[in-house]
Amino acid sequence: MPAARLTLDPAFVVAPLDRRLFGSFVEHLGRCVYDGLYEPGHPTADAEGFRQDVIDLVRELGVTTIRYPGGNFVSGYRWEDGVGPREQRPKRLDTAWHSLETNEVGLHEFASWSAKVGSELMLAVNLGTRGVQEAIDLLEYTNIPSPSAFSQQRVANGAETPFDVRMWCLGNEMDGPWQLGYRSAEDYGVLASRTAKAMRQLDPDLELVACGSSNRHMPTFGAWERTVLEHTYDDVDFISCHAYYFMRNDDLGSFLACSTDMDAFIEEVAAAADHVKSIRRSDKTMKISFDEWNVWYQDRYQNVDRITAVDEWPVAPRLLEDAYSVADAVVVGNLMISLLKHADRVRSASLAQLVNVIAPIMTEPAGAAWKQTTFFPFALTARLAQGEVLKPALEVPAYATAVYGEVPVVDAVATSDPENGAAAVFLVNRSVDEAITVTVDVERLGALRIAETHTLADADPFAANTLEDQERVAPSANDSARLEDGVITIELPPVSWTAIALSR
Ligand code: AHR
Repeated sequence: MPAARLTLDPAFVVAPLDRRLFGSFVEHLGRCVYDGLYEPGHPTADAEGFRQDVIDLVRELGVTTIRYPGGNFVSGYRWEDGVGPREQRPKRLDTAWHSLETNEVGLHEFASWSAKVGSELMLAVNLGTRGVQEAIDLLEYTNIPSPSAFSQQRVANGAETPFDVRMWCLGNEMDGPWQLGYRSAEDYGVLASRTAKAMRQLDPDLELVACGSSNRHMPTFGAWERTVLEHTYDDVDFISCHAYYFMRNDDLGSFLACSTDMDAFIEEVAAAADHVKSIRRSDKTMKISFDEWNVWYQDRYQNVDRITAVDEWPVAPRLLEDAYSVADAVVVGNLMISLLKHADRVRSASLAQLVNVIAPIMTEPAGAAWKQTTFFPFALTARLAQGEVLKPALEVPAYATAVYGEVPVVDAVATSDPENGAAAVFLVNRSVDEAITVTVDVERLGALRIAETHTLADADPFAANTLEDQERVAPSANDSARLEDGVITIELPPVSWTAIALSR
């Protein structure tokens, strides 16, 4: 069996862990909101129509921040449609997803749901079909206690206390030709800067996110970040990244290595931002909001799910309902390792999305809610990671991939909390067919014992949890783990994700 060696040291600190890395994303798309988190007729629905079984799962997932209401949807959204008496709210055509938006759920309802699940609300403004005025109208409505019209409208609609939303995205994927109202980097940079300045006139302490590239493979990637930040560097706090991965051409080995693309993406965006920082002689370091990331079988969306018929505008159609396998979950766990390894720059991240739509939680109307395979690495990382992020020194064999060349077969990150002595190590074995023995030298973290181990693996890497078999896949304790003389020895099965929690 091949072997790998990891060494941990309290001096290997990347950054204090920002819990906003465990954020997620809810878009008015398919059955994420309607027939997902909101289903008034469901047996578990509360007085506001929210499914209690979904609330319980979201809490267990440990989501800290939720980006809302899009996504592509936000670029045609009129926020005013979603406030006030429900019976007066208009139905609108959502051109992003070719659906009918009923506006039954809007700002007040979603803010209430976010509070129920214990998450911070992060809003996106529409810079596709709208601009500065509508952004500051929404901000006044959302955050400002005043006798002015929008603040008073909020009060009349039942929210005396402002929602006090801190993080705001200035549009969504504005570089993408699929985006309603997409723009050149120059045009978007000017608009984002003006919108940010206007928003800060109302509320100076906002945390604002400028749109970066929709993915690393956009033809404008790099130049987009540079131009947008040349316009917005002093106005915003974050530049965004989005990335989705899926297995192509049955090449599992390459798919399992796709976090190498995320690693490079983050480092390249940081380099583009630092280039602008140096030219501007700025003291500020731009943070990254990785506000959409996941496994998403986009080929399925293009070939099967996509609605194009002009006479078809369904309410909450089944869109992007990918069923995730063990391999997908290992990739999700590895993408979380990548985000943590870059915790000095990535200060906010959103798993896209949360319920039914490329989601860790699935529901059936009037029926069950269950955990996809991807639920487990997210929930366990969010629960066990604490304190500071440590980047281990790795001595790991490599394997050959068609897409990424030679790639380490094991990837890992750790956290350590100097306050209570707790530590955690998160690892993946990317090999498609070989187990590996890993030793982790934790002696320099102080006297520790293994408190918990969890390994997600299966004889069938394509096994998934489905409506018919909701508990087919779950992590189990890794009984091979031993800690002797400050060194953990553990066996990682092929295609697996593992968490080891340590305590004093
Ligand atoms: O998450 C699904 C879609 O992916 C979002 O609406 C969009 O921002 C991205 O392209």
